[in-house]
Amino acid sequence: MRRLLIAGNWKMNLTAAESQALAGALRKDLDRDAARLGRDRDVMVAPPAVNIPAVARELYGSSIGLGAQNMHFEDRGAFTGEVSAPMLKEFGVVYVILGHSERRHIFGERDEFINRKVLTALRHGMTPILCVGETGSEHDRGETSTVVLRQLQRGLDQVPEGELARVAIAYEPVWAIGTGRNATPGEAGIVHGAIREALRDRSGAVADQVRILYGGSVTADNVDSLVGHPDIDGVLVGGASLKAESFARIARTGIA
Ligand code: PGA
Repeated sequence: MRRLLIAGNWKMNLTAAESQALAGALRKDLDRDAARLGRDRDVMVAPPAVNIPAVARELYGSSIGLGAQNMHFEDRGAFTGEVSAPMLKEFGVVYVILGHSERRHIFGERDEFINRKVLTALRHGMTPILCVGETGSEHDRGETSTVVLRQLQRGLDQVPEGELARVAIAYEPVWAIGTGRNATPGEAGIVHGAIREALRDRSGAVADQVRILYGGSVTADNVDSLVGHPDIDGVLVGGASLKAESFARIARTGIA
């Protein structure tokens, strides 16, 4: 069985002191249940890059993993404003969110660029979380699977079959992000099924090991029904990951 992945994306929120406080509150809450949670799931948070050192200190030795929201595909060089995999790894960052819709739509990141980052993350032994998802107008035009499968295929270009199981996919319909309007488990499940099928066509049985998360207006109130769907292997959470209580509740989905 695939382990669940419960991922918090703090986006451009919280100062270092606030990030540290949130990480500390989460640790206090979730580490009490670490053995039980650790049986079937991984939990991680992705603070703003500049706050990673503070959060890394706070989470040292914790069951909560550390992620980044983005990174460059080169290890070093003249790339003003960017951070690299070796810089993140030095602080114990294991996960990296790549191709988030805000990176694609606000900052113009393209599939080929995102793909290079996925390959870099794998080369560094990190777990890339490759985000895919259609916009509202693409959704309304019935283009969801075309868009999502194109982003998937291009994002995973040249990922060897032996490495595929280390990649997590996050299906995040753009119209659901930050809108309070989530896809239903049924709607998301159809897209997750199509993603799984495409992964099987590409790489065979290893596809069954790839975690496919749902993201977009996930809350403590809707997480159980989403993760209850057999094709949904976890969640990528924005807004509701900014409060310890709601994210801890989400991380415990299906348990109590
Ligand atoms: P949201 O964001 O939970 O605030 O909708 C999700 C995401 O962008 O990953």
